[in-house]
Amino acid sequence: PARQPLSGRSVLVTAGPTQEPIDPVRFIANRSSGRQGYAIAAACAALGAEVTLVSGPTNLPCPEGVRRIDVTTACDMDAACKAALPVDAAICTAAVGDWRVAEPALQKRKKPHEKPRTGTAAQPASSLTLTLVENPDILASLSRPGPDRPALVVGFAAETEALESHAREKRQRKGCDWLLANDVGAGSSVFGGDRNTILFLTATETTLWPELPKATIGRALADRIAAFFSGHIAR
Ligand code: C5P
Repeated sequence: PARQPLSGRSVLVTAGPTQEPIDPVRFIANRSSGRQGYAIAAACAALGAEVTLVSGPTNLPCPEGVRRIDVTTACDMDAACKAALPVDAAICTAAVGDWRVAEPALQKRKKPHEKPRTGTAAQPASSLTLTLVENPDILASLSRPGPDRPALVVGFAAETEALESHAREKRQRKGCDWLLANDVGAGSSVFGGDRNTILFLTATETTLWPELPKATIGRALADRIAAFFSGHIAR
């Protein structure tokens, strides 16, 4: 068969939400569907890449030709990504929870008292405080210079305001090469939806992609990654 644009290249993709346990039956999570990341994984595999998809809990089928590693928490996702190295490119689309519960309960938490409630909505009778601790930043750690740093690291940013300045600042802070930012402010339906509007940033370029299906965005990014590895474009 003809040589494909990404054959011989390995690509790591993170996707989906993470879930951080509060106790054995409850967790803290977010509204990520995983669709954009799965579309990117599928598009890279279709161009011949060897794709590892590290995925939080989603309802999506594993794209054809993709090796999926299922994880639940941010710490699991971080460990699975480190275990997948070295790779040629890493693309972080996962909505990683920023925080985890410091000490998840080993047994299901009981209600404060299984007795008649005395509180009102305005003045609750009791409250619960959870101590949260910071999760590892997977994108920032993959971007850090070192022998295992992928040749190309791509991040995402969901912003509700000042899209370009926040995205530029985020690209620099994380240390990734390219960053795809989207506006998730009121009125947008990015989460779980089929389409996305991307502001594409590199160190030197800013390009607004028109509103497109997530599958098309996946193919556009995979094509650009292939162009990078064939030497047609710079980081
Ligand atoms: O900081 P923020 O969550 O906005 O950054 C978004 C980007 O960073 C995404 O690419 C996301 O996958 C990645 N990220 C990560 N690990 C975290 C937080 C974010 O890989 N703990």
